[in-house]
Amino acid sequence: MILLAIETSCDETAIAVLKTQEAKTGVKFTILSNQIASQIKIHAPFGGVVPNLAKREHQKNLPILLKRALNEAGLNSKRSTLNAIAVTCGPGLEPALWVGVNFAQELAKKWKFPLVAVNHLEGHIYSPWVKNSQFTIPNSIFPLLTLIVSGGHTELVLSKKHLDYKVLGETLDDAAGEAFDKVGRMLDLPFPGGPEIARLAQKWKPKTTTLILPLRKGLFPRPMINSKDLNFSFSGLKTAVLYYMRDNPRANKTAVAYEFQQAVIDVLVKKTLKAAEQYHPKTVALGGGVAANKQLRSQLGHEINKKMSNFKFLIPELTFTGDNAAMIAVAAYFKARKKQFTKPSAIKAQGNLSL
Ligand code: KG4
Ligand code: ZN
Repeated sequence: MILLAIETSCDETAIAVLKTQEAKTGVKFTILSNQIASQIKIHAPFGGVVPNLAKREHQKNLPILLKRALNEAGLNSKRSTLNAIAVTCGPGLEPALWVGVNFAQELAKKWKFPLVAVNHLEGHIYSPWVKNSQFTIPNSIFPLLTLIVSGGHTELVLSKKHLDYKVLGETLDDAAGEAFDKVGRMLDLPFPGGPEIARLAQKWKPKTTTLILPLRKGLFPRPMINSKDLNFSFSGLKTAVLYYMRDNPRANKTAVAYEFQQAVIDVLVKKTLKAAEQYHPKTVALGGGVAANKQLRSQLGHEINKKMSNFKFLIPELTFTGDNAAMIAVAAYFKARKKQFTKPSAIKAQGNLSL
């Protein structure tokens, strides 16, 4: 099967073309093209993603990326070998999502291909397997426990088979990435704050400078770390950083970045381990923009390997932690395989779509 997938849920415009092949042990995917146009530079001066600007940029970028993707995939003159068009229909910024949805709808009608509506979070769940040229998703990955950490979501999801999702826990307020971005703003860092905080935190060497205000390990709270459920909360932590910066305007930002990041990671790791102990998955995986955080990747991997040896731990390649259309195409394949198509006239963008 050959799928063309479109992703416009936030500030990346992306189109990918993937070819699939069923094997005995799993599904083999080949990326024929993976196009991404990032809008980060356009939104950075505003300190966050501006929905109407994102919409305008997606409208401008999609026809260009489509041309490039078809060219690179060698489909320009043989479009008929395509089997389906997939598109992210939510969750995300509604004006941005609509651009992709309308574009996919038009293509499906014009080219007469079936249309697959994909939940953006399903894409992040499959992202740990995605590799630049070829990769296989084995049949034997289930039960799969995924920690999705992105700008809009923090969720622990259990899947017993493809397209089966049980949300075990989620954030009650801010998402992890959102907290990173808001704290980034408090520390006067450029948008998005996540990678900037990670970069600063990496530089923190407690004993090398005398200009540091007294910071002890665990200065900031770890909200809900000991709660019985598998939910998260990051808004109190963000407020704690706000008050700390207000009361210590000369605080060393490198130290604050480190302390904040560590507080987030401690909670994410503890809750993921708790879920793993409770549900005995065969695979534990990490996905979403915050999965690019090196400290989170290594701490989660380390703790999991220390506590449990009977399951596989997977993290996405850095290129596939952020939003991309390859992961959307993978999720779309499993839907297309089950003939879960959506009529072009019925597809709509849903900003608050859940799994
Ligand atoms: O998945 P994603 O690209 O978009 C959404 O679906 O939301 O995630 C974007 C989020 C942003 O909040 C960004 O600050 C965060 O991922 N992020 C990071 C890092 N790189 C990106 N957070 C922490 N550390 C990083 N290295
Ligand atoms: Zn995302």
